[in-house]
Amino acid sequence: MTYPDYSDYTIKWATLPWEVEQAHALRRQVFCEEQQLFEKDDRDATDDHAHLLVALGSYGGWHQQVVGTVRIHHQGDGLWYGSRLAVDPVFRSQGQLGTTLIQLAVSSAHALGCQCFMATVQQQNEALFQRLNWATRHYAVLFGQRHAVMEADLAAYPPCHTPNSGFVLRARRQPRNSECWAGLLGMPASGSATQQEAR
Ligand SMILES: CC(C)(COP(=O)(O)OP(=O)(O)OC[C@H]1O[C@@H](n2cnc3c(N)ncnc32)[C@H](O)[C@@H]1OP(=O)(O)O)[C@@H](O)C(=O)NCCC(=O)NCCS
Repeated sequence: MTYPDYSDYTIKWATLPWEVEQAHALRRQVFCEEQQLFEKDDRDATDDHAHLLVALGSYGGWHQQVVGTVRIHHQGDGLWYGSRLAVDPVFRSQGQLGTTLIQLAVSSAHALGCQCFMATVQQQNEALFQRLNWATRHYAVLFGQRHAVMEADLAAYPPCHTPNSGFVLRARRQPRNSECWAGLLGMPASGSATQQEAR
């Protein structure tokens, strides 16, 4: 299977219906099918008041697809939580998508008066969060799995006041012009490398 090689990625708060729809579909793929933490749908009451963030794969700024997501919500008294962090398996481990979703999650909450940002992190991801200036406060069992309850060091996450435009990242491998045009026109690009090959 050939996967798109996007020229750039935008990490932002979801503002459009297709972004929300694809983010929920990605969450179902990751948390219901891949990890089997939920049966059919992982949505819960938190979604009614959470802010949804997306990572969008783009060609030259034209957004094509949701490739990652996370949500944040205010619990009260300056306490914020992040949850449901997911990157499409095809786009993982580029060293930027999950990391930048976490960056915008905490920084956008910080701009809204967050004084403490927490997340309940699956234990296999604890080291990743530690590298991103999070500290483990205690451990808990959730959905039958051990999780680290972690807190972000807000000093490492300066407030972001423009979450609807968010952050733009240049892809580590830049597609050729012909691949960009083919992607924009929805055509297969001849000789296009797969995302797997690009790593
Ligand atoms: C956890 C998750 C969101 C991380 O997303 P990601 O886009 O792969 O994250 P990043 O690429 O920003 O960083 C992650 C890895 O890239 C590595 N990395 C850093 N720089 C890199 C580079 N230049 N090139 C390649 N990899 C790099 C990091 O060391 C890290 O590795 P590790 O997790 O094996 O320790 C993703 O793996 C996922 O969706 N997992 C399934 C769902 C899940 O576990 N959600 C989190 C619940 S707490």
